[in-house]
Amino acid sequence: MDTYYILKNNKVIPVIGFGTWQIPDGEICHQAVTAALKAGYRHIDTAMAYRNEASVGKAIREAKIPREELFITTKLPADIKGYQETMDAFTQSLYNLEMNYLDLYLIHNVKPWGKEGDGMEYMDQNIASWKAMEKLYREGKIKAIGVSNFLPQHLEILQNNTEIPVMVNQIQVNPNVIPTENIRYCKDQGILIEAYSPLGTGRVLKDSRFEKIADRYQKSAAQLCIRWSYQNGFLPLPKSVTEERIRENLNIFDFTISEPDMNEIGKAD
Ligand code: A2P
Repeated sequence: MDTYYILKNNKVIPVIGFGTWQIPDGEICHQAVTAALKAGYRHIDTAMAYRNEASVGKAIREAKIPREELFITTKLPADIKGYQETMDAFTQSLYNLEMNYLDLYLIHNVKPWGKEGDGMEYMDQNIASWKAMEKLYREGKIKAIGVSNFLPQHLEILQNNTEIPVMVNQIQVNPNVIPTENIRYCKDQGILIEAYSPLGTGRVLKDSRFEKIADRYQKSAAQLCIRWSYQNGFLPLPKSVTEERIRENLNIFDFTISEPDMNEIGKAD
């Protein structure tokens, strides 16, 4: 795959990433990432919270693809915040992955999972984390920095209190989940939207509506959803542990969804 977006800092990022959320550590993850690299994915998205960084790293090493041809993302766990805490977590992730730099590092969530509130009370800690990420970025240990699951009000505060702008916001987007306001804000700010669960963790594919539209292009509903994401300017991160689907999900560059069909699938502004 040789199609890229350009991030705010001019770094290139392959337009589809292989998502590894919910892929169990060990042989399943190792095989899935190996299959993804063989299929042509060059962008792999993991997180310390997925607990599969070690298997992801092992598959990447064994594939013997030059490191500079790969784009690797991991994330600061939602319950780890603060300057030194971020430094330590980053060091641990590099150790797990057995890498000496990362292409993208994201704050996984505004607040620890399951906590009440709108997350605003965690912004001081997120700013402290971001300052650690800025230092790592300046040292060349991370090539791009961003966040996940942030809303415009969180992005505003973070960007007003730090120096390096947010390059990526990774959020859930698929034809059934379209956070219009957040999308508009990120686009205005030049923040690339990475779309996790582009298939709604498989649920979207159960809607026969998408299959019907996909038939017009002789594509699968999964390919239609991934292409829809791409044509909206998002960066989809499809996940699969099935080799055939892993290949299928990358095969979206030989068709274009018409405008009426884009609107019928879901209006993403
Ligand atoms: P599996 O991993 O068993 O192959 P999302 O990317 O939105 O998180 O969705 C992932 C879910 O969708 C997984 O359950 C995955 O199943 C399934 N899936 C991924 N790609 C396809 C595909 N091309 N066709 C059907 N199901 C798919």
